[in-house]
Amino acid sequence: MTPQPLRDQFKRPLRDLRISVTDRCNFRCTYCMPAEIFGEKYQFLPKAQVLTFEEIARLTRIIVRLGAVKVRLTGGEPLVRDQLETLVAQLRQIDGVDDLTMTTNGVRLPEKAAALKQAGLQRVTVSLDSLDETVFRQMNGNRGSVQQVLDGIAAAERAGLSPIKINAVVQRGVNDHTIVDLARWAKDSGYILRFIEYMDVGNRNGWRMDDVVSAREIAERIDAVIPLEPTSRGYASEVAMRYQYRDGGGEMGIIASVTMPFCGACSRMRLSPEGQIYTCLFATEGTDLRDPLRAGASDDELEAIIRRTWGERIDRYSELRAEATEQPRERKVEMYHIGG
Ligand code: GTP
Ligand code: 5AD
Ligand code: SF4
Ligand code: SF4
Repeated sequence: MTPQPLRDQFKRPLRDLRISVTDRCNFRCTYCMPAEIFGEKYQFLPKAQVLTFEEIARLTRIIVRLGAVKVRLTGGEPLVRDQLETLVAQLRQIDGVDDLTMTTNGVRLPEKAAALKQAGLQRVTVSLDSLDETVFRQMNGNRGSVQQVLDGIAAAERAGLSPIKINAVVQRGVNDHTIVDLARWAKDSGYILRFIEYMDVGNRNGWRMDDVVSAREIAERIDAVIPLEPTSRGYASEVAMRYQYRDGGGEMGIIASVTMPFCGACSRMRLSPEGQIYTCLFATEGTDLRDPLRAGASDDELEAIIRRTWGERIDRYSELRAEATEQPRERKVEMYHIGG
């Protein structure tokens, strides 16, 4: 008998798994890991607490059995983890994974793209907030140049890790004056650019609603220079609203997590580096799988924990935030800990 598809309390299925392979990053983006907090002395997870590739692959196999078809590697920065292609090869072997992809800041792609493709990674999404060197460095804590990221993107393209998507977080007064340039470049290069509304993830980026440039404003500002036409979402749980360029030159997207939340169709589960599952990007707590795993739990026992966790899920943080006048929750998991 085929088991019933797993559904949460709002009948949302589990379709996507986002695996954070490390809590470390070679950037210090101000909206994610501000350098004042994540400095020299910051204690990242000791290696023994981080899941091994074998442990990640085993948990992924179980989660895929429960319905996940899309797997994304994130971080921190996933490519600071050594030999990530070994994990990719293990995940590639799992039946039922239709889409195997990664979100990266791109800096290590020149050395890694070919090996990742060879191991079975299908495509990549690269974060690039501005083409203006000063603005970009200001946003990433002065850890990398625009050219390094462009070289990474070019390497991904050469390796065939396409379609390539570019993620850009938009912050008012920081990079919003450079969004048209970015859109023009992405269009001319054939990459799918997605602007992301700056979100109140974690507790440390000092988020204020005034810093958010709404999806509507972003669309208007681009449309004034490069005419756009809205199109439908590609799939039910897609986070981006999509637009086509009216001249037929491709598409772009806007991720309006703040002004137009998409919790209603959210099918994402997140696995943290130390083996906790989170049912929301804004969760306060995860459910630990590492202790039972290391204590010898069987696949069925681990599956039961995951089933229970998803079955009890009632998360809809972004919708609650939109309905409330204040941030609904005091303490949240950090974004670099469970990936974007
Ligand atoms: P595709 O598979 O290419 O459609 O990409 P994706 O939808 O998985 O997008 P990606 O992982 O690049 O996510 C883009 C950004 O959207 C993330 O970096 C987050 O900023 C935001 N985002 C993704 N998932 C969620 C989510 O579940 N909730 C919220 N609030 N934001 C999300
Ligand atoms: N708001 C919106 N997006 C964010 N990301 C990280 N922090 C935030 C935030 N506060 C995005 C990055 C990257 C992905 C990993 O998550 O831009 O594309
Ligand atoms: Fe690193 Fe990505 Fe966070 Fe920037 S957004 S600090 S690149 S994990
Ligand atoms: Fe999903 Fe939580 Fe994001 Fe809503 S806020 S879309 S429930 S991860």
